[in-house]
Amino acid sequence: MIEEKKSMQEEVASLVEKWKDKEGNLIMILHELQNYYGYVPRPAALELSRVLHAPLARIYEVITFYNFFKLEAPGKHTISLCLGTACYLKGSAILLNEIKTLLNIEEGQTTKDGLFQLDVVRCLGCCGLAPVIKIDDKIYGKVQKNQVMGILSEYAEHKPEV
Ligand code: FES
Repeated sequence: MIEEKKSMQEEVASLVEKWKDKEGNLIMILHELQNYYGYVPRPAALELSRVLHAPLARIYEVITFYNFFKLEAPGKHTISLCLGTACYLKGSAILLNEIKTLLNIEEGQTTKDGLFQLDVVRCLGCCGLAPVIKIDDKIYGKVQKNQVMGILSEYAEHKPEV
């Protein structure tokens, strides 16, 4: 535990050193932290606040302003539900509600078991397949509400052999 904390302090210190003289350094440091951890852990934000002498509130203001930054550890599988115009018109909001209900999470959250993270996106570049859900790198097109559970169950941890 202490070792993990120390390495996080070292990570923050090296990023601050790398970006200290550059404009927009807070955002760049946060980007690098997120690339490294998959999200911006609170201890890293606290350490950054301490090292940069920046108020923690200012750091969280930046994190929460940009949708890109995440405050929770990412789930094993990322669900990207498209709410772009084509998908929305074809009922993707209904799919979103179905996923939220089935997984008991809101947008931007991760399930308690860490299996899924739910993100909403504005277009996945395959509008002809609307409504579209992407899970990790796999695209599901023309998805109907009653197919959602089956799709999610493909990612269940103990999938029965077929
Ligand atoms: S609007 Fe959904 S893929 Fe383009």
